[in-house]
Amino acid sequence: MSTFPNLRLNRLRRTAGIRAMFDLEIPSPAKWCWPTFVVPGQQIKEEIASMPGQFRYSPDQLLPAVEAVVKQGIGSILLFGQTDQPKDNGGSQAWCDHGAVQQAIRLIKREFPQLTVISDVCLCAYTDHGHCAPLRSDGSLDNDLACECLARTALSHAAAGADIVAPSAMMDGQVAAIRSALAENEFHHTLLMAYSTKFASACYGPFRDAEGSAPQLRPGMPSDRKGYQASYANARNALMESVLDETEGADILMVKPALFYLDMIQKVREQTLLPVAAYNVSGEYSMLIATAERGWGDLDELVRESTMGIVRSGADLIISYWASQYQRFFGTR
Ligand code: PBG
Ligand code: ZN
Repeated sequence: MSTFPNLRLNRLRRTAGIRAMFDLEIPSPAKWCWPTFVVPGQQIKEEIASMPGQFRYSPDQLLPAVEAVVKQGIGSILLFGQTDQPKDNGGSQAWCDHGAVQQAIRLIKREFPQLTVISDVCLCAYTDHGHCAPLRSDGSLDNDLACECLARTALSHAAAGADIVAPSAMMDGQVAAIRSALAENEFHHTLLMAYSTKFASACYGPFRDAEGSAPQLRPGMPSDRKGYQASYANARNALMESVLDETEGADILMVKPALFYLDMIQKVREQTLLPVAAYNVSGEYSMLIATAERGWGDLDELVRESTMGIVRSGADLIISYWASQYQRFFGTR
């Protein structure tokens, strides 16, 4: 290999045209998934204070927003539901047939049959304590009962027409429970995307604000999700989680958050032949906006640079709130 002065790497960087010849490209919108929030009611479109540019929609208001995303070519959406009914220990409104998310799935599949609809399967927006599983009277988590509740919830989403169900509760055995419930009810085509490598992260704050799903602070109950979400200091344990989910019947694996865990995306993808999704979570979205608002960085550049990090890590699918503004950030200019 020649060296300076014969070799000058800046030659390969001199013009935008030369750079573009060799640069990776941002994946086409078909490889993006837009996460969004559904609330019961009608005519509701409220901006989420901690996530500027993202909203909670009632099912009727979600349709025009989905249309705007479909027009940009985005391939899939990920829906989070909420309830206006009383919450309980087991989160029973999660599997209500006419819940907001079930309604939204039906409406969207009717209006935009070509759009792939993914539903988040968890209980925390429906339990009165905000945990992802029912609690026993001693404050401990009832993992196995949670699996039954999650399977019921996933079935209600599949029955409404969800193409992919995505359990995010991090209960042991949840993927197997959902897979067998789907099989017993002949939902053989429904895909299962496991939030397989989901860390107990401080980056979910804006999401919990959007969903009203933060764990309640009560004596005798866990105050965080560290007892079930993966520890960010234990990569081997987190990798094992994705191996198990694959064994239990997942079709797609996921690493979440994305930007703080690019090494994990790469490792999970090396260890599996399944597709790997990266979830660029709420806190990762809002921190870029907050930085730009303070004048400490250019939002467009921050979004493109951080997204390219996820692309370099090898993710097959990018789940990101930026998807709703794909044209602005990644469209041809
Ligand atoms: C629910 C769930 C969470 C997220 C996705 N599903 C929050 C949590 O675990 O507390 C986070 C998504 C985001 O921050 O964008 N289990
Ligand atoms: Zn949850």
